[in-house]
Amino acid sequence: MKGIILAGGKGSRLYPSTICVSKQLLPIYDKPLIYYPLSMLLLAKIRDILIISTPHDIDNYRKLLGDGSRIGVRFQYAVQDQPRGLADAFVIGEEFIGDDSVCLVLGDNVFYGAAMSTILQKAMNSIANGGAAIFGCAMKDPREFGVVEFDPATGKVISIEEKPKHPKSNYAVPGLYFYDNNVIEIAKLVRPSARGEVEISTVNDAYLRRNMLHATVMGRGVTWFDTGSPKGMHKASGFVKTIQEMQGFYISCIEEIAWRKKFIDDAQLRKCGEELKQTDYGQYLLSLLNKSEEEVN
Ligand code: G1P
Repeated sequence: MKGIILAGGKGSRLYPSTICVSKQLLPIYDKPLIYYPLSMLLLAKIRDILIISTPHDIDNYRKLLGDGSRIGVRFQYAVQDQPRGLADAFVIGEEFIGDDSVCLVLGDNVFYGAAMSTILQKAMNSIANGGAAIFGCAMKDPREFGVVEFDPATGKVISIEEKPKHPKSNYAVPGLYFYDNNVIEIAKLVRPSARGEVEISTVNDAYLRRNMLHATVMGRGVTWFDTGSPKGMHKASGFVKTIQEMQGFYISCIEEIAWRKKFIDDAQLRKCGEELKQTDYGQYLLSLLNKSEEEVN
């Protein structure tokens, strides 16, 4: 399976902070925002990853993440010249995806939960014979998001709507999606919505109509943050700081995940730690090497 991170857009809800810096490069507490969605792909053991951003910002992503060899993965980069919408990712990424399946994660979505690896694995398994897999996260007011409605008796999806004025459920659809290879052809057929974007909800609705959409509720054990506003960024930063300080485990530390998943060995992790040793982040990486198996698991 291939992975795509969409890190485009103007980030206009965060102006003036994002006038000259891409939103997904801004920090959530101690690391760039894009580390958080990237860590979801790593937890799913997806190692072929395409990063899509604006012509203006793409080089900064290259500077930050390189070719991926540092953490044992392969990064490629592509440009979205206009913010045409999320479904455009599959058209831009057509060649990269080839005849594989693909996971799309939005560059500004932050997830946290001990069960994340299992949740991702289940979603991947659910599309092993084709289809799409999405999630629902309970939210007091989901009007700003894609909204999924479930049949209470069977748990099956009844409807998907993008930013509905009158949501049919309280389940927002987070920016983490799994698709079979048909997504490329489906995405090409999507027409722009009233806001002028090719919506991911239209892609999901196409799978629903084919009876090929799997949706699962992420449940109370998972925290999902929308970081689209200064308040959202601040909330997510505070959450990360609190958990990291209390538990001593870092959230979405890409080098740690790469090491735990055995994409890199001890020597490579040590090198990553040495490069950043002037920071708590670097010291954390080095400290992992000094702990016993029991302590790190
Ligand atoms: C996008 C999707 C929406 C989804 C959200 C998750 O919204 O269109 O369905 O719920 O991401 O972050 P946007 O960020 O474009 O408003």
